[in-house]
Amino acid sequence: MKMNIGVLAGDGIGPEIVAQARKVMDAVAVKFNHEINYTEALVGAIAIDKVGNPYPDETHEVCMNSDAVLFGAIGDPKYDNDPSAKVRPEQGLLGMRKKLGLYANIRPVTTFPSLLHKSPLRKDIVEGADFVVVRELTGGIYFGEKGRSEDLTKAFDNCTYSVEEVERILALAYDYAAKRNKRLTVVDKANVLCTSRLWREVAQRMEKEHTDIATDYMFVDNAAMQLIQWPKKFDVMVTENMFGDILSDEASVITGSLGLLPSASVGVHTSVFEPIHGSYPQAAGKDIANPIATVLSAAMLLESLDLLDEAKAIREVVDKSLEAGVVTEDIAGDGKAYKTSEVGDWLAANV
Ligand code: IPM
Ligand code: MG
Repeated sequence: MKMNIGVLAGDGIGPEIVAQARKVMDAVAVKFNHEINYTEALVGAIAIDKVGNPYPDETHEVCMNSDAVLFGAIGDPKYDNDPSAKVRPEQGLLGMRKKLGLYANIRPVTTFPSLLHKSPLRKDIVEGADFVVVRELTGGIYFGEKGRSEDLTKAFDNCTYSVEEVERILALAYDYAAKRNKRLTVVDKANVLCTSRLWREVAQRMEKEHTDIATDYMFVDNAAMQLIQWPKKFDVMVTENMFGDILSDEASVITGSLGLLPSASVGVHTSVFEPIHGSYPQAAGKDIANPIATVLSAAMLLESLDLLDEAKAIREVVDKSLEAGVVTEDIAGDGKAYKTSEVGDWLAANV
């Protein structure tokens, strides 16, 4: 098949890790007889520097015209400590989510036996943990009305959800649960928030239409606690935008595999695939960052195009590289630390 892939490498280590994922995708394309046409576009701080807009219209066009988008990372320290900056790289990401209608962010959390010692939790607690966080991505407090009072002494961010928004993300979460272990945890703060009560109302109705799935409900504070106490009890967890932002970061570190976890943002138009770690500016340009999360994001990308054997080939070669100790310094331990580009070369050669 012929694929058009948009490539938004972004900031920090983005370009280096995306380059490795491309090598691996190219190797898969040769092996399975596909043709991949990549189109690169600007996003994030580098887009602000070059054209003054973190998500330029040309980039949006590229995304709209692609079958899928491979995304690196955005963010630059020069903006992080400057609350007065008028244009921020993060606006590019939020603009992209809104314009592409990426209403669901999917983060599978899995354990890799060779990395369990990296977990901040005891091995017996995390070993075998395997769940998915489904985060609503285009609503809630991120996109509600926000502002400052005239005298600047007050600020507000509104949280709004419509029934339609809740229904479509729950429907997607139920689909995932049906393909997995048939358990769905709906996370909210229905004891305090009106939007959460709407979520729960909709979920309780949809629960009746999904009798094959065991649905349970959890307040977000309790969920934050249970995630580290009993991560193995979760299968699919679904929640609103801000809770999902926080819980998905928590979820991503408990298995010790932060540098290995991919994600997908899906919705109305083209889907976007990216590693869950950020732009890691301290490592930019040093050829030391771990490319595996991006390589596994490419596997998710291929799955989304129904190229299941191709995705499997990527997952298998990644497993092989971990077993063989062909890994970057973040997980090398006492073993040899390979460069980012060396890991990419090894994976491509062994696909
Ligand atoms: C994420 C990030 C973003 C978010 C930031 C960079 C705006 O933390 O993708 O989880 O809060 O959604
Ligand atoms: Mg986040």
